[in-house]
Amino acid sequence: MLLTSYQLGNLTLPNRLVMAPMTRSRAVDGKPTAETATYYAQRATAGLIVTEGVQPNEVGQSGPFTPGLHNDEQVAAWRVVTDAVHANGGRIFAQLMHGGRVGHVEVAGHRPVGPSALSTGSEVFTPTGLQPAPVPRALETSEVVDQITAFAEAARNAVEAGFDGVELHGANGYLIQQFLSSSANQRTDAYGGSVAGRIRFAVEAVEAVADAIGRERVGIRLSPGGQIQGIVEENVPVLYGELLKALPDIAYIHVMATTDEEVLMELRKAWPTAFILNPGGQIGPDESTLEQGRRWLANGADLISYGRAYLANPDLVERFRLGLPLAETPGRETWFGAPNGYVDYTGYQH
Ligand SMILES: Cc1cc2nc3c(=O)[nH]c(=O)nc-3n(C[C@H](O)[C@H](O)[C@H](O)COP(=O)(O)O)c2cc1C
Repeated sequence: MLLTSYQLGNLTLPNRLVMAPMTRSRAVDGKPTAETATYYAQRATAGLIVTEGVQPNEVGQSGPFTPGLHNDEQVAAWRVVTDAVHANGGRIFAQLMHGGRVGHVEVAGHRPVGPSALSTGSEVFTPTGLQPAPVPRALETSEVVDQITAFAEAARNAVEAGFDGVELHGANGYLIQQFLSSSANQRTDAYGGSVAGRIRFAVEAVEAVADAIGRERVGIRLSPGGQIQGIVEENVPVLYGELLKALPDIAYIHVMATTDEEVLMELRKAWPTAFILNPGGQIGPDESTLEQGRRWLANGADLISYGRAYLANPDLVERFRLGLPLAETPGRETWFGAPNGYVDYTGYQH
């Protein structure tokens, strides 16, 4: 079933494998390079590729050497990537990732912003190594709309750059999840407080993006109950149940296995369109496996996303199809920004 086709919005996917978003920190001046095009083109047999996190505006840049989609040069550079993927028969969504409070002035050139003036309490990557996460500037109510508009404009840029759609990064403690979380969001205006207040930013951002490029080209990633980067969420079934009810019928939700299976199953039942499940969660000790993928498809997921397995297995679909062994996942030293460990993996050598 993993290798059967699936209709996602207007796209016919040849299989149900999704390449999960992975930041690789190899952009130059905020732009993807020719190597980035090679890297994604090598993985074009995936049913769908979701790119690394891409900042929708300058202040949203979370870590060093990540690409953006907020100026013409970036659009032109991404066009080379999407053309290469399409030339190899693939489909590709850009992941729009606004770091919010997970950022640093030395990275973005701006003081990070967030729902409230509360630090993650952990560390952030900067060009000079790990540093304590700063206290962000709390967005004024009148400024919240600017961040929502940035998502919509970046989505328009993504389509202009040839992407098949965009995924909003609503997971892993970045801006959208900061608004969802009762620990990061202590606002007293319409964007905080009750569940209805805390889901408002996510819903308005998705609506703005869907209005900009069409709902069939939009997905959102969620990590219900995930606890990294200072996030605490209370009553996860209610928070995410209300969120799913309030979201428009976009192409998909991309759910990470960051909470009980029972809760994940409830979310599956509550969601009307495609449900992508990422078994590995927040870089848990074990990476997602073929077996887990099969099990989740039997449990009602439509598509399965694989992250780490894609690092060294550009031909993951073929390996699963033929039952071939997987190349071992490389150590963390090449995940971000190293000169090697990016485009140097070939398909299985028969
Ligand atoms: C190097 C690396 C970078 C990642 N960057 C992102 C990212 O930019 N956005 C995101 O949503 N998840 C990111 N993730 C999480 C993966 O998408 C995925 O959820 C996680 O690796 C667990 O799945 P797996 O077991 O299949 O690897 C990253 C993971 C890795 C290993």
